[in-house]
Amino acid sequence: MKGADERFQSEANSANIMSMPAAATDALTIGNALRALPKAELHLHLEGSVNATTFAEMARHHDVELPPHSHPAELFDYSDLAGFLDVYALVAASMIDRRDFERVTYECLERCAANGARHVEMFFSPEAHIEHGVPYDTVLAGITAGVRHAEVDFGLSCLLIPAINRELGGLRAVEFVEMVLAHRTDDIVGVGLDFNEIGYPPELFVDAFRLAEQAGLRRTSHAGEVGPAQNVRDGIELLHCERVDHGYNIVQDPELLAECVASQVPFTVCPTTTTFTTDHRDLSAADHPIRVMYDAGLNMTVNSDDPTMFGAELTDEYSKLNRLMGFSFDELAQLALASLDAAWIDEPTKSSWRAEWASDIECISARLDEQ
Ligand code: ADE
Ligand code: ZN
Repeated sequence: MKGADERFQSEANSANIMSMPAAATDALTIGNALRALPKAELHLHLEGSVNATTFAEMARHHDVELPPHSHPAELFDYSDLAGFLDVYALVAASMIDRRDFERVTYECLERCAANGARHVEMFFSPEAHIEHGVPYDTVLAGITAGVRHAEVDFGLSCLLIPAINRELGGLRAVEFVEMVLAHRTDDIVGVGLDFNEIGYPPELFVDAFRLAEQAGLRRTSHAGEVGPAQNVRDGIELLHCERVDHGYNIVQDPELLAECVASQVPFTVCPTTTTFTTDHRDLSAADHPIRVMYDAGLNMTVNSDDPTMFGAELTDEYSKLNRLMGFSFDELAQLALASLDAAWIDEPTKSSWRAEWASDIECISARLDEQ
């Protein structure tokens, strides 16, 4: 039975282990098994998760001019981070009404659930909407409504991480955190720091992150994606980040890598993103940073970042690690459990979910072994 609001016409959650092939004789493919793996999605941007058709519809509705295209999917075309962020800004500019935010949040979480995500910690980019005259409370109210509907309809949980746009500088970042705190709800779990690292190093954001920390918000930052390994160190040491988003360039600093292996600070890696925004476009290369980070013993979680805009859902990310990087099902199951451990939820909940997830993983694994 669906929740009260049928407006967004969901499909059934196809990741439920109950929906795996029922009879022992029915083949369970590695793809189905990876889809069914219980996962936490910890690095996902709402605005990077909008369907191309939803984007085109919202843009038409709000008279936002789009580049010429014969199909909405063609709008998602870029070859580096800066080009991607331009289109990301256009998607954000097409989200105006509270209902737009509710709709994209619901659609995004529907796909998360269909990919086996049972818990999501979702970034959103308030500045990209405020810039177009949409107040923060409209953004937050719409997203929160979408989360509530999705939680009922898909049985997952979702916490929110408003992300600081580093390209607006340190002073604005302080005002941003003040705004976030003035509208704080239980859904807001922490703050992030994203957009282009080049020219906007972590040290600019010490005051903003101190304010967030003093108010009890959790902290994470994009670092070492297109910027140097030093940004990873500074994110941890200056901003007191508890997770690192991306972090690939850590492989250029063996000392820092060893320190992060020792501390087990979680890195939320996004395989497909590396093929768009970094120089590491061959996932099967033996020296791909994700391979090197994992082999070094870093605490790593697998995530989708901007799934519609980069054309890969969460299951695809696990599947790419299997097909292109040689990760076994058991290793991927351990990474799925690591995503739960790295989530910002309370320990009692985590420990009860850990037992549930481990038991579901055992079932899935046993089905794979039968073949
Ligand atoms: N915002 C959304 N995706 C991002 C990425 N990969 N890097 C920096 N900022 C982002
Ligand atoms: Zn990201």
